[in-house]
Amino acid sequence: MEKVRLQKFMADSGVASRRKSEEMIASGHVRVNGKTVVEMGVKVDHNDKVEVDGMPLETENKRYILMYKPRGVISAVTDNKDRKVVTDLLDDVQERVYPIGRLDYDTSGLLLLTNDGEFANHLMHPRYHVDKTYIAKIEGVMTTEEIRNLEKGIKFKDYTSARAKVHVMSKDKKKNSSIVKITIHEGHNHQVKNMFDAVGHHVEKLARESYGFLTLDGLVSGKYRDLTRQEVAQLKSDK
Ligand code: URA
Repeated sequence: MEKVRLQKFMADSGVASRRKSEEMIASGHVRVNGKTVVEMGVKVDHNDKVEVDGMPLETENKRYILMYKPRGVISAVTDNKDRKVVTDLLDDVQERVYPIGRLDYDTSGLLLLTNDGEFANHLMHPRYHVDKTYIAKIEGVMTTEEIRNLEKGIKFKDYTSARAKVHVMSKDKKKNSSIVKITIHEGHNHQVKNMFDAVGHHVEKLARESYGFLTLDGLVSGKYRDLTRQEVAQLKSDK
């Protein structure tokens, strides 16, 4: 490995973004080979011992995993109520990967996991407008006006949702339910459920079927695969 700037090395190890890492360096939290470093420009590689607040950084191979998350699993690496977490589903992954963003406990579908902090920060940055498409089973049948309102954006207390694409795939008047495809590019907590609730339709079931150009093709619920180099490169280069 070629030596890289300390802040990049820290970001790659998942400590924090590059900018936050620079702040941590400047404020004296970082030691390299036993010496506190406060100036920028120091370069390191895996042979150097980097510590943040006395904790050594362990560097690992980068892993990028696409998982078909089942319902009934938490999008986290631990759970204080001891429920199953997504990393429990990984049986041959030694690297300490964690989910990029989250899907609710009762939401299934496409979830990315990685141990590359900079990659995760990049994808979660609000500037990075990746389309996420969900299939929602909702209560009732939507009117044209409700669909339009959902598409235009919903005003919540702390944000207004951006324009969404909405397509009603089927309606069942007898069962009083519909299947709706919705594409958004933001990732607020419970956003899709809250958007449907706001137009008067409770979400009974939710699944994420795609994330940008990535789909669940070839995977069954609970399974996963590594992203290809090309897929990682494309996600890194997209703005
Ligand atoms: N929106 C939700 O409401 N839940 C999810 O899990 C994802 C998006």
